[in-house]
Amino acid sequence: MNLLARRWRRLVAGGVAALATLALIPAAPAGAQLIDVPNPIVQQRADTSIYKHTDGYYYMTASVPDYKRVELRRSQTLAGLGSAATSTAFTAPSSGALGGWIWAPDIKFYDGAWYMYFSASPSSARFDQRLYWIRNTSANPMTGSWSAPQRMTTGWESFQLDPASFTHNGVRYFSWAQDSPSTSYNSHMYLARMTSPTTIDTATAIEIARPTHSWEMEGVAGVVEGPSPIVKNGRVIIAYSASATDSRYKLGYIYASASANLLSASSWTKKSTPVFQTANGVYGPGHGSFTVAEDGATDMLIFHARDYATPNPDALTDPNRHTRAQQLYWDANGFPFFGQPQETGSGQPGIRGRHSNKCVDDYDHNTADGALVRLYTCTTGSVQKWELTYVGGYYRIKNAYASKCLDALDGSTALNSDIGLWSCNGGTTQDWAIVDQGSGWFSLRNRASGLCLDNYEWNTANGARLSQYTCNGSQAQHWRRG
Ligand code: AHR
Repeated sequence: MNLLARRWRRLVAGGVAALATLALIPAAPAGAQLIDVPNPIVQQRADTSIYKHTDGYYYMTASVPDYKRVELRRSQTLAGLGSAATSTAFTAPSSGALGGWIWAPDIKFYDGAWYMYFSASPSSARFDQRLYWIRNTSANPMTGSWSAPQRMTTGWESFQLDPASFTHNGVRYFSWAQDSPSTSYNSHMYLARMTSPTTIDTATAIEIARPTHSWEMEGVAGVVEGPSPIVKNGRVIIAYSASATDSRYKLGYIYASASANLLSASSWTKKSTPVFQTANGVYGPGHGSFTVAEDGATDMLIFHARDYATPNPDALTDPNRHTRAQQLYWDANGFPFFGQPQETGSGQPGIRGRHSNKCVDDYDHNTADGALVRLYTCTTGSVQKWELTYVGGYYRIKNAYASKCLDALDGSTALNSDIGLWSCNGGTTQDWAIVDQGSGWFSLRNRASGLCLDNYEWNTANGARLSQYTCNGSQAQHWRRG
């Protein structure tokens, strides 16, 4: 078929596809933005809690290197947090019950007031952590005053840390990590109902997770800590951090149906494998929180990590756990897909092939409908930046340079048929499902064809063709962001 006929066929097919889907186009997704955050976003802040308030500000607190204060900052953008002014909500005294270390504050806005929950220890026993809360009734918590810390009692006395509260179906829950008298592990994770912003209904407290896998016991007896809740796709998910806080630190998650009784241990299931771990020059990623990007819709993973493998002098006093932010995805089954930590620096919203280590590229900067995409050496150019917008089970993948969407051209279902760009039309040829391939790699399955984006013929040369082929789980179909 000559080129003119081919192009005519594409135009007709594209037009027909567009017309055929006019009635099917779901409402434009609420918000969408290219996530291109220059990581790390905040130096030397670990266990980061970010809360996006109705005033449009991101409020952030975190562990500070000397663990001697509860610090707060705010910014209207995630990238702006690094240079934002800070205020101190509480400073540890030189001695006494809170004279030791302050760890992992969590910030929330309940009933018209600001609360920060954190653990603190006595100067005489810096690991003997207990949970506390403080309150500020000012509309802007960077101003006004914070109350003196008061205990947040959990029902029994032992090493306790990492508070994270959340609201679901109108009920406020409090999750935390605590040493259980029943095992030799460092920590189990617990959940209880809150009867007020400052009290736990201890009678409802249940264990929701304990170390059960070897990847939760690396360098420690057993650690599950840093609960980070998110509700999506009919599930309540609580991500948590496991193992020593060095390069072995990693994320796992537990989940329950959003309609289940969250205070029944049997409602919770633990994913058996870790979901986020050291890669791409980012070591020991963990203990963060979830928020949304400035568009109010794109889910974001907040976490800390180091830029080197070996902490100095040790995994707690080494100050260089920096805060990072990247997009959180949802796989074809509606579960969170964390992927891999993206490289330090900005311009990492590429789609990089595992076999080729090259990036999906709008080749020749072609902005025409039907332009082919190919593999090319990864750069930070806009021809390799891709905005992924979640539309429920699928993503629309828009090229930042061409402002056109990744498309199974002509609606073809033929093996090895072309993948390229077409005006974004909401059609199923432009819907791609993320399929977890393990170790943070994913494949992209096209909704219309059921075929997967494929590094055609395993070609690793610049300009190598991209096609669609039977989804076979091979590394020619493995991709990551970065
Ligand atoms: O960063 C201090 C403590 O170290 C955090 O509370 C905990 O999550 C981690 O183990």
